[in-house]
Amino acid sequence: MNPNEIADSERLLHQAEPFNRRDFMKNTGLSALGITGMPLLFSACKTNMPNAYVSAGMLGQGKLPFPPGFVWGTATAAYQVEGAANEDGRGKSIWDTFSHTPGKIVNNNNGDVACDFYNRYKQDVQLIKDLQAKAYRFSISWSRIFPSGSGTPNQKGLDFYNRMVDELLANEITPFATLFHWDLPQGLQDKYNGWQSRETAKHFAEYAGYMAEQLSDRVKHFFTLNEIWTFIELGHSIGMHAPGVKLSTAELNQARHHAVLAHGLAVQAIRASGKTDTKVGVAENIKVALPVFETPENIKAAEIATREINAGYLTVIMEGKYTDAFLSAAGANAPKFTAEDLAIISSPTDMCGINIYNPECYVQAAANTDGYERIPFAKSHPTSTSTWELLAPETIYWGARHAQKLWGVKEIYVTENGYSSTDELSVDNRINDTDRVMFLRSYLSQLQRATTEGCPVKGYFYWSLLDNFEWASGYGIRFGLYYMDYKTLQRIPKLSASYFKAMAAANALL
Ligand code: NOJ
Repeated sequence: MNPNEIADSERLLHQAEPFNRRDFMKNTGLSALGITGMPLLFSACKTNMPNAYVSAGMLGQGKLPFPPGFVWGTATAAYQVEGAANEDGRGKSIWDTFSHTPGKIVNNNNGDVACDFYNRYKQDVQLIKDLQAKAYRFSISWSRIFPSGSGTPNQKGLDFYNRMVDELLANEITPFATLFHWDLPQGLQDKYNGWQSRETAKHFAEYAGYMAEQLSDRVKHFFTLNEIWTFIELGHSIGMHAPGVKLSTAELNQARHHAVLAHGLAVQAIRASGKTDTKVGVAENIKVALPVFETPENIKAAEIATREINAGYLTVIMEGKYTDAFLSAAGANAPKFTAEDLAIISSPTDMCGINIYNPECYVQAAANTDGYERIPFAKSHPTSTSTWELLAPETIYWGARHAQKLWGVKEIYVTENGYSSTDELSVDNRINDTDRVMFLRSYLSQLQRATTEGCPVKGYFYWSLLDNFEWASGYGIRFGLYYMDYKTLQRIPKLSASYFKAMAAANALL
């Protein structure tokens, strides 16, 4: 990806004109998202979690099914929910340092307490169960296990994940573990400049192998790195995420190379140390190019664009080579790598996680050397309360379809998909997040379309179980199905929790 593209993406991610959801509802209406009517379930809904509707068999009229065994889950990440920053020997991560640096996070929030999931996980497992979710995607805090990134493991940190996994299994919830969700041990940042060094990739593989050895008797799905694009670009190019550095183009390309190398080394380490039935893959926010209209020419253009835009990330992981266009755009700033590196990076995986929010761009076919051209987003294009989150429900369809078509992926999980809303708490303690319900219905209808067409999507994890620490945006941005009262740490189910539950129970779009 060249600097202009990064600048473009960044602008789209973080500087899009704010456009509030009321405008969205008013200007686009439900029909803009292919919605013809809200389910009666919600117009009639009297309680926050309408168990009665689920158990009374009132669901399912006109339902659009997902495949049998489709996995419904929710997702979180360690630094965003755990809190307990100084408990049981946990070492500092770059996010502790960054969030404690004044001015880096909205309202100078930090993850010291967050949702206190570390101490309340039993209660939260019941919340997952109450959603009828059969899976939970969590991340492991590397610095709880290896406080300075490598060396002697911290038994108390490991015990926490053992307890949590056991609690999930006792409640018939399948654990999906992510090994790295951005909270790099500060020790590795100090010693090696983190991802700027190949040493960090090697230490990541040691940690991954250790976790597979410890957990793979019970955890059968491991994701290596979460959203390499985000932690590399936001953390090392524009400095708005930890570690907050602004590298030169050559250094940035090298850091990115070390991250994809870390993924490949970890795949090998997990294979070497885990049980034989352990599945492994990456969880990447594939940058999805959408065909502006679904003509065969535009679909082809969108495939070409998606492959090129992801060249330094999913494409090299899946294909074991950097594309010619990527290398020639990078020129003298291209990463230094060996053929052996490429073989490691593309070590065969069992599954691919895709995180789906906004699309990267709309494209149409063009008779230029790229084979496509981007169509800029309209200024009034609707977003969630996260102004980077331009809404396009078909992103989930095309994200999965592109992964299947471009790289022949046989097992796809939507490892994240979510919407941030204003989530006003009513006087009677309800959150009628009708906009999130609309989001779920419209994105999931596109996912249902993909599975109906035979695209091998095996599961869907809503981001997030709970409102939590939304990185540089602090606690002001809410993505959860459960509302967090940050003063009391009380969890309150939103209307969308009821909707998710109804769909998970029916294994169908409702
Ligand atoms: C993707 C990230 O993985 C997650 O940590 C973040 O909270 C969501 N996007 C929403 O921004």
